[in-house]
Amino acid sequence: MDQELVSSWPNVQFVPDSYVRPPEERPGKLVLSSCKTNIPVVDLEGHDETQIILHIMKATKDFGFFQAINHGVPKVLMDEAMAVFKEFHAMTEKDKTSEGSKDPSRNCSFYRSSKNYQTEDVHVWRDVLTHPCHDPLEEHMKFWPAKPTRYRDVVGKYVVELRKLGEKILELLCEGLGLGASYFSSTGLSGNPVLLVNHYPPCPDPSLTLGLIRHMDPSLITILLQVENGLQVFKDGEWIAVEPLPHAFVLNVGLVLQIISNGKLKGAEHRAVTNSTLARTSAAFFIYPCNDIVIEPEKALTNACNPPLFRSMRFKEFQSNFLSRYANSEAVLQFLSTGHKH
Ligand code: OGA
Ligand code: NI
Repeated sequence: MDQELVSSWPNVQFVPDSYVRPPEERPGKLVLSSCKTNIPVVDLEGHDETQIILHIMKATKDFGFFQAINHGVPKVLMDEAMAVFKEFHAMTEKDKTSEGSKDPSRNCSFYRSSKNYQTEDVHVWRDVLTHPCHDPLEEHMKFWPAKPTRYRDVVGKYVVELRKLGEKILELLCEGLGLGASYFSSTGLSGNPVLLVNHYPPCPDPSLTLGLIRHMDPSLITILLQVENGLQVFKDGEWIAVEPLPHAFVLNVGLVLQIISNGKLKGAEHRAVTNSTLARTSAAFFIYPCNDIVIEPEKALTNACNPPLFRSMRFKEFQSNFLSRYANSEAVLQFLSTGHKH
């Protein structure tokens, strides 16, 4: 049974050993007090852009995370996209595998646990569909699932909206950092958005396993659509549960933005826990740089008193080194560091 997708196990009664996390990583009894269930909520509508920028900068500095409301993405489209993501994951294993394996280069792919399934010591309780979302969409959309039949149509519209929202948030963050508003779009730094549709089936004992281990995202920013509980953010030594707000997006700063801002904005570690009764589906839209783009602290943000904290490297070099250290943020930061401290 270990060879199949978690979602294909009928009425699984126990967590197989290969999914039991070491004790120090386990989510424990999953009791979180209600005061630990809040990240800031930012209203993106309104006329006072300066206030919005201040609010976003404060939220990202304090938490690395916030929930965005009045973000401009049509609610109906969010509902349709989530429905089609759930429909995809509800298909048979055979259909999911064939619909998710059309791309010979595997940029569009469907897999269980993580891309390191063969080498990881312990698996996580999830299945994943991922594919690129950059322009021109028509070029790679032929590798996206053709089943459910409305997948390409709905998700095509959805990613166009999410790219707009991503640019808007990045422009606000740029202004907050004192960089020109088009800094990211004009440099190719935000040119490679990728969608990851996570599916976490119900788990017989959520205290033993995880849907996604503690990690930081290797993106500029990530925009998450979620309906069910399960996301947790690590802050000041504790896990905060992020309660889904209807039609809100969860935004977080990734490591690439931490590097470019020279640590002025920081990513936060987060993870996903499972649930004993409900399946959970979440869609993470990662804004990545194009592969050959050099990522490094922006020179306008460094000087003799603020030396660059991070080394300069091409995004693809960053990404492969990140992947081999995925489970250990300290090792990631050590690899990236120039040795300078604040
Ligand atoms: C991710 C992620 C969280 C979630 O895909 O990187 O953090 O709630 N997902 O699925
Ligand atoms: Ni993440």
